Amino acid sequence: MFEPILTRNIYRPNSEKIYTYLANGGYEAVRLALTKSPDELIEMVKRSGLRGRGGAGFPAGVKWGFMPKEADVPKIVAVNTDEGEPGTFKDREIVERDPHQVIEGVIIASYAVGAHRAYVYIRGEFFLGVKRWIKAIADAYEHGFLGKNILGSGFDLDMSVHRGAGAYICGEETAMLESLEGKPGNPRLKPPYPAQVGLFGYPTLVHNIETLACIPHIILRGPEWFASIGTAESKGPKIFSVSGHVNKPGNYELPLGTTIGEIIYEHAGGIRGGKKLKAVIPGGASTPVLTAEHVDVPMAFETLAAVGSQLGTGAMIVMDETTCMVEVARRLTKFFAHESCGRCVPCRLGSRRLYEILERIERGKGKPADIDLALELAREIDGLTFCPMGSALVNPARSTIKHFRSEYDFHITHKKCWVGNQIH
Ligand SMILES: Cc1cc2nc3c(=O)[nH]c(=O)nc-3n(C[C@H](O)[C@H](O)[C@H](O)COP(=O)(O)O)c2cc1C
Repeated sequence: MFEPILTRNIYRPNSEKIYTYLANGGYEAVRLALTKSPDELIEMVKRSGLRGRGGAGFPAGVKWGFMPKEADVPKIVAVNTDEGEPGTFKDREIVERDPHQVIEGVIIASYAVGAHRAYVYIRGEFFLGVKRWIKAIADAYEHGFLGKNILGSGFDLDMSVHRGAGAYICGEETAMLESLEGKPGNPRLKPPYPAQVGLFGYPTLVHNIETLACIPHIILRGPEWFASIGTAESKGPKIFSVSGHVNKPGNYELPLGTTIGEIIYEHAGGIRGGKKLKAVIPGGASTPVLTAEHVDVPMAFETLAAVGSQLGTGAMIVMDETTCMVEVARRLTKFFAHESCGRCVPCRLGSRRLYEILERIERGKGKPADIDLALELAREIDGLTFCPMGSALVNPARSTIKHFRSEYDFHITHKKCWVGNQIH
């Protein structure tokens, strides 16, 4: 029987307070970690199989291993609480309700890679989250978990919070670093990766906060325990944000590998109004849409890739039978076109042109050749942009055309939408 770990505190009264955290075994993992060597900790995280929860799923321990070992090189840990992906709302809940769990992860990660400075980057609109971060960090200092000579170990760590201004691209790790440096949040060309040249030019370990929240549990319960949860290539617990046409939208912590159907029908209360499931975006707005036929697919990196989608942030957007998939693609593409940083042509102009084609089709003004034009444009954007946003922004159009092409044809032939027989 799976027992929630990352969300075990969040429904307690005053869950965000340090005294609640301490009363429930908080900061014990830091005490234990400080008795181990940094290399031992890196090994433990590698053995746990933990993969990043911010979208890309890169193995965390491997990333820790990329940080230079030289003691005289200043190193930094940067904490990503930007969470701009539509449909994703897990990080916000973690920081608002259990920030100390993340701070504990940050201390252990910093000690393991030899960083003495940690920066939190948080999306500007998360007012409560900012307040909670600031208070939690101040309390952690007061209790000797941050600052000089943490718990008498000789290890020093300073930590502070930086607010973003609410741009989706600032969640991309190098854009986040630029923004942290006080510049416009434009992505950097990679390589070099942040572990080599990061914040202010120093080696930087960038992690999503859900990833960091896993760390204390790996240290306390052991990497084998963590690796025993999940699938062959996707280990541990995962918070799935479920939104859209379900009876009980919300965050559900379950093992990686739980099927789409189980999440929708057993945890999120099934489809609203007893309607039929039509489509699911499994991992946040940038991941390719799947259909009702995919309900048995496990929510894991490898199984979603096998059916042409991605786990992303694990945020499921559920759509019932009354949803127009052309409208879905058009709206999401509008979001990405608006959020393009504008630096490279395929993303800046490509996203806009793609939006115009989708809008034309949806409004009943499309031509038969428009569907192939959209696909051709997607090919010209995917992989050819400065940062990974280009590959993300083509997913809504491409995947809805792949699975629901007949709806595009209907709009073009009948000059209206089959939903409600109208032009919307
Ligand atoms: C356009 C774009 C937006 C992103 N937004 C976020 C975000 O809001 N939060 C996040 O943690 N990662 C985001 N990422 C992923 C980060 O670049 C990076 O992979 C992640 O923070 C690394 O942490 P992890 O290894 O713990 O997953 C985004 C990536 C891209 C390409």
